[in-house]
Formats: sequence, structure tokens, C-alpha cells
Amino acid sequence: MYPVDSLRKLIQDIFEQNSLITATWSQLRRRDNVSYTKVQVKPVTLKNQLHYQFAFHYNNKVLHENLTPAEAIERMTVLCEETFRQGLLCTTEADYQILISKKYKVSILTKSPSKTSVDLSHNRKKQYVLEEGVPVSFLVELGIMNEEGRVLARKYDKFRQINRFLEMVQDVIPYLPEGRPLTIVDFGCGKSYLTFALYHYLSVQQRRSLKIIGLDLKADVIEHCNALAQRLHYGDLKFLVGDIADYDELNEVDMVVTLHACDTATDAALEKAVRWGASVILSVPCCQHELFDQIESPVMNPLLSHGILKERFSALATDAIRAKLLDLMGYKTQLLEFIDMEHTPKNILIRAVRGQAGQTADMWKEYTEFRDFIHADPYLERACADLLPGGANPTETAEGDVTEHNTDRSNGKSTTSPDSCDHC
Ligand SMILES: C[S@@+](CC[C@H](N)C(=O)[O-])C[C@H]1O[C@@H](n2cnc3c(N)ncnc32)[C@H](O)[C@@H]1O
Repeated sequence: MYPVDSLRKLIQDIFEQNSLITATWSQLRRRDNVSYTKVQVKPVTLKNQLHYQFAFHYNNKVLHENLTPAEAIERMTVLCEETFRQGLLCTTEADYQILISKKYKVSILTKSPSKTSVDLSHNRKKQYVLEEGVPVSFLVELGIMNEEGRVLARKYDKFRQINRFLEMVQDVIPYLPEGRPLTIVDFGCGKSYLTFALYHYLSVQQRRSLKIIGLDLKADVIEHCNALAQRLHYGDLKFLVGDIADYDELNEVDMVVTLHACDTATDAALEKAVRWGASVILSVPCCQHELFDQIESPVMNPLLSHGILKERFSALATDAIRAKLLDLMGYKTQLLEFIDMEHTPKNILIRAVRGQAGQTADMWKEYTEFRDFIHADPYLERACADLLPGGANPTETAEGDVTEHNTDRSNGKSTTSPDSCDHC
């Protein structure tokens, strides 16, 4: 057993030698002292400076703090002397397993190192595109962070959502054209948290030359977004008032984004994207009501006779249909989880990247069989009839029959909507 001073010395040495890989502190000394239950520490580089990221694990969230080496030594010392009774320090030299008794006697078990050092910049990027502790002007303006870069507790979900979205954007960068400015449109941009995030990430962080246009029906929201873009000096981010279906100001667009655009507004956006031949589409649909009033299938009555199941099935079927239609029109489409179900049930992201159309005849057959089985007449198929194997309206069914299609491309909410959307 050692006195607690020996532990202080060990921590000091580890930080002075820059040998820490990870540290984990657990087993609270007193439960009423703090409300987190575990702290993990690891080195990160921020603006080319070594820092230490402290991850405080609470019951349902993790908060991060980035500290300079001097601050980190101080914080680690407090954690081991006042807060926790157990620690594991993994360094490049050795692993130290630490137990601190109630009477502050310390046992340190030294073992050969179990981890190897990691590339800090890579490590950091993988974790978060936007770091807590690093102030970002648009997040400060939107009230998500304070001026020191601390994320406000009630905005933490939004912060995670923005980071998740940017991770998705990071993944599609290889599919965007290089060597020329990009044009990106965000349809149904609303308050535009994610539009600002997209601009910050691509233009400010990645230094890509680009313009982004956000479009929405709401004039007051658009006015507010334009004023914010001006304050932030985001010169190539513009917001316009308009209806997606009527938007015809551009001939070429590289990426189309729609996030929770209501009902068939998503389809109107997908149609635009396909006609522009956009390289990338990222679309999180919302309140998919259209099929709710169309779906019919005696075989599926046990499911469709329950409103809540019918509503959920209609939403899933809508997105399955969208994905298959995009595939048929030359995209490689994936459906991904956007953010955890606990934050919003509208959490499917359609990610489509332009590629070669696959087995078109088989795909079309598969598509029409599904469509006809559930008796659907989807907006996107009607709108893109000239781009699909079935040709212009009326389209052929799998059996070769001719189906009369509704030509209404209204993108308002269905008057018999099964629920009201918590996003709209
Ligand atoms: C739920 S909000 C989502 C806002 C934002 N994209 C986000 O994720 O926070 C949906 C937005 O889509 C807009 N919208 C719905 N239908 C539209 C249409 N046909 N044309 C343009 N905007 C539309 C609404 O005005 C609303 O601001």
C-alpha cells in the first residue's frame, strides 16, 4: 500500500512523459457527490495542440470536456483523490490498475501495456466532426454552445444530431465531384440548423468552394436564416422562399438534402434531385401520409386494421418504394438509421449516390409486384414516370395491366392524416 501522494506523482509523470493512452475512473467514493458514474480520459489534438478529453458518463448521456495538459493533471488528481476509488491508466509504458481504500491507502498494480498509441487526429475525427469545447460560431449563434464551446445541456441532443448528420456527409464526400465548386440544395430547410452545419463543415472546415441554397415555404423563417447567414459571413449560403415542386432556378445540382420535409414534399425533392442528376441525395423523410389512404390488401388486414400499425407500415412502405424507385433511376440507395429512436421516431435516412442502374427489368418487376400488392399509387412514380421502365402515365403493372394513375402532385398534408407530425 502507498500513500495517496504516490498516485499524484504517478499521474504527474504520465502526463509529463505524454504516455497516456486512456484512463478510466470508476466506483464512486460517495454517490451523492456527483451525478456521473464514470470518467474516461484520452489525449486529442485540438488546433494542433495536445489536449485531454474527459468523457463524463451520466445515466443517459455523456458530456465531454477538453483540457490542457496542466488542467488535465489537476482534474485527474481531484478525480482520484475525491471522487473515485478505482482507476485504470493505460500508458505506452505500462497499465496501472489502481485501488484507493476508504482511508486513502493506494494499491497500484503494474502490468505490461495492453494498448498501443493511436493517431490522435484520426481518433478525434472519428469521434466527433464538431468537438465540444471548441467554439463554433454558428452553434453559438443558434444557442447550442456558449462562447467557450460548452454545449448547453438542453441542446445536447441537437448537437449529437448535427454531428451524426455531418458524419453522414463525411461518408458521401468521395461521391461528390472534385475540382469545381459544388452546388447543394436543402429543400424544406426550416430553421436550418443542419444547413448551417453543412456549410460550416464543407466551406469552413473542408475549404470546399460551394454554394448552398435552402428553400422553404415559410417567409419569416427564411428571413431569419438569411440574417443569420449574413451575421456569420457565410456569403455562399442563401435562403429562398418557395415550394419545392415549383423550384426551377438551377440547371445543375450536386447534392440534394431534405430533412424532415413533410409528406410528399420529400418526393418533390427527390424528383428534382433525380432530374438534376445529383451525385448525392440525403433525405430523412417525415410524416409519410400519402400511402395511408391508398394501402389496401385483404391478406394484410390483421396489420392494416390497426391504425397505428397501418400508419407505421405506410411510412415504411413509402420509404421502401422511394428507395427502389431511386435504384431504378440509377442510384445506389441505402436506408440508414439517422439518430437514435429515443430522439425521434422519424429516424430513417435515405442515402442515394448516383451510379449505374442495376438489373432494371427484374427490379421493375419486383417494384411493381410490391406496389400492386399493397395497392399503392406513389407520388414519386407518377412524377418520374418518364424516367422509369414503365414509361409515361398510365404505367404498366407487373402483369401487364394498365393502371389509372392519379396525376395530382399536391404536396400538402393529406386531409385525413393519421397523426400530426411532431416535426412540422
Ligand atoms: C419539420 S420541418 C424540418 C426543417 C429542417 N429541415 C429540419 O430538419 O430541422 C419541415 C419544413 O419543410 C417545409 N416544407 C414543407 N413542405 C414544403 C414544400 N412543399 N416546399 C418547401 N418547403 C416545404 C416546412 O415549411 C418546414 O419548415
